[in-house]
Amino acid sequence: MEKFIQLLEQSISQESLIYISFGNLRQKSNPYRKVTLRPVILRDQLFYQATYHYEKKVTHENLKQNECQSFCIQLLNNTFKQCNLFCVEADYQILAAKSDKLKIIKKSPSKTKDISQLSHNQEKQYLIPDGQPCDFLICLGVMTKEGKVIQKHYNKFRQINRFLEIISDVIDYLPDNPKIIDFGCGKAYLTFALYYYLNFKLKKKVTIVGLDLKEDVIDFCNGIAKQLHYDGLTFQMGDIAEYRETAKADMVVTLHACDTATDFALMKAVSWNASVILSVPCCQHELFSQIQNDINMPILKQGILKERFSAILTDSLRTLKLSEHGYDVSMIEFTSLEHTAKNIMIRAVLNQNTKHSQTAAMKKAAEEFKELCSFWHVNPTIAQL
Ligand SMILES: C[S@@+](CC[C@H](N)C(=O)[O-])C[C@H]1O[C@@H](n2cnc3c(N)ncnc32)[C@H](O)[C@@H]1O
Repeated sequence: MEKFIQLLEQSISQESLIYISFGNLRQKSNPYRKVTLRPVILRDQLFYQATYHYEKKVTHENLKQNECQSFCIQLLNNTFKQCNLFCVEADYQILAAKSDKLKIIKKSPSKTKDISQLSHNQEKQYLIPDGQPCDFLICLGVMTKEGKVIQKHYNKFRQINRFLEIISDVIDYLPDNPKIIDFGCGKAYLTFALYYYLNFKLKKKVTIVGLDLKEDVIDFCNGIAKQLHYDGLTFQMGDIAEYRETAKADMVVTLHACDTATDFALMKAVSWNASVILSVPCCQHELFSQIQNDINMPILKQGILKERFSAILTDSLRTLKLSEHGYDVSMIEFTSLEHTAKNIMIRAVLNQNTKHSQTAAMKKAAEEFKELCSFWHVNPTIAQL
């Protein structure tokens, strides 16, 4: 291990490290199969970005320079039997079947360091890249005709690409020709992106309906869909709560639909047994006027904390309700907090094993839901639907 530590120390301090890859798991039950690390520049500072490769997704963690060494040692000690270290001067293969007996094989370097690639943004491979004309982004004013993203719309462009990354992670749960509903689609940047990605990039025959209260927005979106010949994409005016379409949707998307509109969307999705639900709640006001708990008065007497806490409780209850109905639920970061505080997404995938019978996990979620409501003295819309 001593030699490995020296090697890491040297390559990190001299900034000669290009890439590290950990593989060959010690325990097959580990949730991720591989971890890779590469230097990135974020806000003019050098970080090491660790990428965890799961079966169907990847996640990232940015480490400071002084955290990188212990992170690597722990991985080799506890999780992986092999590490490949690519440095400017050489490649090293580290074999550690037993963590106290390492074998280090040095080879001539196979990678070169490209400083320009250290930039986080340049390195990022967007599913819809900047620089290539994309018809709906041009129509919606995000890109110029030449394909350059307009600076003031860069956050929207990033959000669209982040959304498509999340879609690519859930695609395996959808049928070949999925039917999708976007509740509260607004000006539909994300709805168009979804259609573009599934229909043109993944070649799926997708049907998407965008629903919104606003007539002018619906007319505008239908006009663009027609102009671009996005034949499977239509927009309807209506209230989510009143939506009576009975045909099943395979995926329900509801992004930033205000307050309890999200609950109506979630429960519609549940009633259809939708395979995937992606929801970014916002303006969770409902519980603010209900929430009450003596022990927690110090939190609740501060308006700003009460507001944030009400939002967290609302979303916790939503995730429990979805779990109670057989969904595997996770809360993920949608966009970076730097761009908007409305950045938490509920990602729910219907667990096929729970389709026909209630599992212990579903029962537990139902109990936890009741307990939480009673502890905080709340009766949220989602409980009533
Ligand atoms: C903040 S915008 C979000 C637009 C889009 N989903 C996005 O994330 O970019 C919220 C949209 O939800 C719509 N909305 C809110 N409540 C709704 C309801 N009950 N039924 C249908 N649409 C609703 C609003 O009209 C608005 O266009």
